Amino acid sequence: MSFTDLLLSRRSVTANDLIEPGPNEDQLTTILQAAHRVPDHKKLGPWRFIVFQGDARRSFGNTLRDIFAQDNPDASEKLLEFEQQRFTRAPLVIAVISSPVEEPKAPEWEQVLSAGAACQNILLAATAMGFGSQWLTEWYAFHSKVDAALELKPSEKVAGYMYIGSFASPPTERNRPSLEERISFWK
Ligand SMILES: Cc1cc2nc3c(=O)[nH]c(=O)nc-3n(C[C@H](O)[C@H](O)[C@H](O)COP(=O)(O)O)c2cc1C
Repeated sequence: MSFTDLLLSRRSVTANDLIEPGPNEDQLTTILQAAHRVPDHKKLGPWRFIVFQGDARRSFGNTLRDIFAQDNPDASEKLLEFEQQRFTRAPLVIAVISSPVEEPKAPEWEQVLSAGAACQNILLAATAMGFGSQWLTEWYAFHSKVDAALELKPSEKVAGYMYIGSFASPPTERNRPSLEERISFWK
């Protein structure tokens, strides 16, 4: 597939549909290198990556379960188990952390956009390798206790959790917003 065809056909595979095998060590390195190679005003590197594989996915699931249970004391055991299993939906989860720094010439907005570009490069690299992937935030990208468990600095935020794995059958295409309505030509 040409790179243009890849760009025009990329689709998310729902995390629930991601299966083993995930990327091997070399493929993971390549995915992270792609994430690292994004436009970056003032060369600040305002992102970092936390990789969850193997048992680490379930052990972080314990943290998610505990935090969810504190917030929802009446949650059923089934729901708590679901929270515990979040990261085990896929063989590999990469948390992309937006990590902006103080730089007057590169406002925070630009640095956050750069982290978003890193997220997209992860999806594209995974797609190019034949893996499925999905960018999720869900509740645990926006929770101060999860941020603390991830050891984020006060200035940092989770840009997204990139779920990556193999898939049995490709997802069907979805309805997309009209491109024509979103284009204008300045005259
Ligand atoms: C920043 C960001 C956060 C997202 N978070 C979620 C989420 O929490 N849950 C979800 O179902 N989809 C989420 N999505 C959407 C999916 O990643 C995906 O884009 C969507 O299912 C559309 O599929 P497509 O990528 O094939 O167009 C998010 C997308 C972005 C860009």
